[in-house]
Amino acid sequence: MNEAYRVKQTKHWFIDLDRADSEQKLKEAARIIADGGTLAFPTETVYGLGADARNTQAVERIFEAKGRPSDNPLIVHISEMSQLDEIVLPYADDAKRLMERFWPGPLTIVLPVRPGAISPRVTAGLPTVAVRMPAHDIALRLIAASGCPVAAPSANRSGRPSPTLAEHVREDLEGRIDGIVDGGPTGVGVESTVVELAPGGVNVLRPGGVTPAQLQSIVTKVTIDPGLDRAMNIAVQPDASAPAGADAELPAAAHSAAGESPAAPRSPGMKYAHYAPRGVMRIVRGAAPEQVTAWIQAALDAAMQRGERCGVLAFDEHATAYRADLVVSCGSVHALEEAAQRLYAALRSFDEQGITYILAEACPEDGLGLAVMNRLIKAAGHRVVQL
Ligand code: TXA
Ligand code: MG
Repeated sequence: MNEAYRVKQTKHWFIDLDRADSEQKLKEAARIIADGGTLAFPTETVYGLGADARNTQAVERIFEAKGRPSDNPLIVHISEMSQLDEIVLPYADDAKRLMERFWPGPLTIVLPVRPGAISPRVTAGLPTVAVRMPAHDIALRLIAASGCPVAAPSANRSGRPSPTLAEHVREDLEGRIDGIVDGGPTGVGVESTVVELAPGGVNVLRPGGVTPAQLQSIVTKVTIDPGLDRAMNIAVQPDASAPAGADAELPAAAHSAAGESPAAPRSPGMKYAHYAPRGVMRIVRGAAPEQVTAWIQAALDAAMQRGERCGVLAFDEHATAYRADLVVSCGSVHALEEAAQRLYAALRSFDEQGITYILAEACPEDGLGLAVMNRLIKAAGHRVVQL
């Protein structure tokens, strides 16, 4: 990215809704969106970078600031149901029931777009628009005060881990956007679940804060998009028996099968490398925890011998077993809400410490574990060692 682009004066607001000055600050910050600028703000999932979804120039500023590929559409955020009818065409009853149960909340629903209501830069020319109502009072009040539907991808430079603190937004976007609202840490920590409607239910395009089991409680049929499923299950290093081999690249066939997106992803965002720390990262997966721990330590020892700065992303159950330059725990493997909350900050901490070689323990893909593993696999560029 062209560093000469860092020319904007980024304004900052620290907003605490319990304080009397919050109303005035919200008004000033919302003005940025209303005037066609770019504003980062907290949601319950991750910080978003918002702009008026109807204003093509404003939306282009989001893509420029993030360095985001233009064929990847954005989520539109609303603060009340009346806004929805202005931007979408009539939709199925299942969608209505999902909204009643999960909005405001971390569920994004892909709906037929009302022609002309939203900039085509937001939808990347698709006949659909992804919409959600965030469960965060600052976000809801900013959207309401801005008076428009707000297009907002995560407020990180494209390819970097999503921001769960305003500090992360500053690291990536200071000088590239018009304003940042600091409302403290986000809650869920991974992005919203993205679903499209399918016969009898929904198809999950991106796992996130709402789990498949939660969706299943509202609609009859929940499928995981085959593209997503494949992307999570291929890409294993076939001969993982010798830790010394851990620094070898994946065989070309496995790598390209993994790195390339499965045919025609339904959610364009699925095909991009994401969330990646700067060091080379691998996930180590195996049925026996002791075997995983032993394999990781042997590989770390070999890497340290070669002069790598080594990091481990582990769970509390095994974190103390490792010797490395940086060991970060994502909490208990039995409390994956915590892993979701901590994951992106953990990935950033490897960069802060100059870590060049990272091994991560896998977690079960149940509940929020599906979203956590999905993000981990992307962060690792699909490098998975299967023991
Ligand atoms: O939690 C979140 O969803 C955060 C916060 C800021 O709200 N936002 C977020 O936005 O993650 P973004 O732009 O980083 O991710 C949008 C995802 C991408 O995977 C994109 O491909 C998909 O939603 N998407 C957007 N519009 C779509 C559409 N019309 N059809 C299918 N997928 C779509
Ligand atoms: Mg993102």
